[in-house]
Amino acid sequence: MNNPTDDRTVAVLLAGGIGVRVGLGIPKQLIKIAGKAIVEHTLEALCASPVVDEVLIMMNAASIGELDHLLDETRFPKLTRILPGGDSRNETTQRAIAAIAATEGDGTKVLFHDAVRPFIDDRIIRDCVDALDRYDAVDTAIASADTIIQVDAHSHISDMPDRSTLRRGQTPQAFRLGTIRAAYDAAAGDPGFTATDDCGVVFRYLPDTPIFVVEGTPENMKVTEPIDVHIADKIFQLQSASLSLENMTALPDLSGQAVVVFGGSYGIGESIVELARAAGADVAEYSRSSTGTDVRSGKAVRTALAAAQERFGRIDAVIVTAGVLRIAPLVDTRKSDLKETIQVNLTAPAIVAREAHRYLAGTGGQVVLFTSSSYTRGRAGYSTYSATKAGVVNLTQALAEEWADSGVRINCINPQRTHTPMRTQAFGEEPEGTLLDPGDVARVTLNVIGSDLTGQIVTVQVAQMAAQRASADG
Ligand code: CTP
Repeated sequence: MNNPTDDRTVAVLLAGGIGVRVGLGIPKQLIKIAGKAIVEHTLEALCASPVVDEVLIMMNAASIGELDHLLDETRFPKLTRILPGGDSRNETTQRAIAAIAATEGDGTKVLFHDAVRPFIDDRIIRDCVDALDRYDAVDTAIASADTIIQVDAHSHISDMPDRSTLRRGQTPQAFRLGTIRAAYDAAAGDPGFTATDDCGVVFRYLPDTPIFVVEGTPENMKVTEPIDVHIADKIFQLQSASLSLENMTALPDLSGQAVVVFGGSYGIGESIVELARAAGADVAEYSRSSTGTDVRSGKAVRTALAAAQERFGRIDAVIVTAGVLRIAPLVDTRKSDLKETIQVNLTAPAIVAREAHRYLAGTGGQVVLFTSSSYTRGRAGYSTYSATKAGVVNLTQALAEEWADSGVRINCINPQRTHTPMRTQAFGEEPEGTLLDPGDVARVTLNVIGSDLTGQIVTVQVAQMAAQRASADG
């Protein structure tokens, strides 16, 4: 096999389906998660892999125009073609094989990956490509936590295969081009041909070809049922958290950037002001106590931002740390306190985001908001606070989508309990070692500013911070 294309790897994104089971009325690969279509996340992952040379998308023919913007040589230089898929998944694969075979030899490595598995990681891609040096066909699978049973037409168990020998198939499925082509050629002669994946075609029609199995990951799930959209959303949140925490001991270089902090006179806001200056940024800080700025007032926010723009000539990040937390059952809460909580915690972030957008559009900048772990589930004793924190998360996700085209980003930090005056006032003194240092939260925030994340809820936990410090010390 001395063909010059033998060392090449072409990845095919299978996006020809509709996603009837998700039932959202659009092809499921176009559902937006964290501000981008699922297929775009998957494309990013494949393109980012150093072992992939070229990427092809096979898209549902009726919606193929929706992906035109991805054919962008600067953003995705490896993406060469977006072609219409077929009526079945196997037909889509066959069309891809025909397109690739027009320019590639039989030795080229071809990787088929479901567009709706956005959490593919580089280790899996590498394992598949490497395994093709020893095998002509490779599958990806994970062990099954559930016992798998076989049933007959009467819903009676007909077999219970030993769980230890069972795996759940994922993708990528990878082949030497000549192998998968030969398998489909053989299948073409079989009038009863049906299959739901590509390894199945090799298994059935080239029975002498061993198929090696690479270990997948639980995250490499396929968005199939409605609940999977929620799970995928959550995995994105978790992944972004680890991303921003990877390099926690270092501060990003923010020199030349201008940062505006609303609510920066104490607590997390104060730490952010301090650290942003240490990172080289120009920083303007506005709060009720220091500058008399009421974040609930559109006019006050407008004036503050205009002043910062005037002073620095640009604004790259706008951070809102202002917040109100009062502990009391709702029936004992005064209406004025209720209103204040909603206005400071939710109305104000919306006002700041609205006013900041025009400045950030000029710099490709971002808004950073703050939520609390109570956003996932309302907590007795601070019902309105939890409700506003859930609102901030929705605001973040919605604006990430609204702003995707203008290049303005928005993220939300979710610090676990943090040692701040607001918290001590609400909960009293708490045991040392159970609270985050505001400086740690500030460092994560600056790392988020230095990243290209958008629409993310970045969780910061005490245990993660301790581990980060330990590894930096060691
Ligand atoms: N696929 C494809 N061409 C088809 C059908 C499916 O490329 N004619 C792709 C899908 O886009 C998806 C992958 O194969 O990325 C896995 O298929 P599945 O989850 O079964 O997708 P759908 O057919 O879209 O879903 P459903 O069965 O719920 O309609």
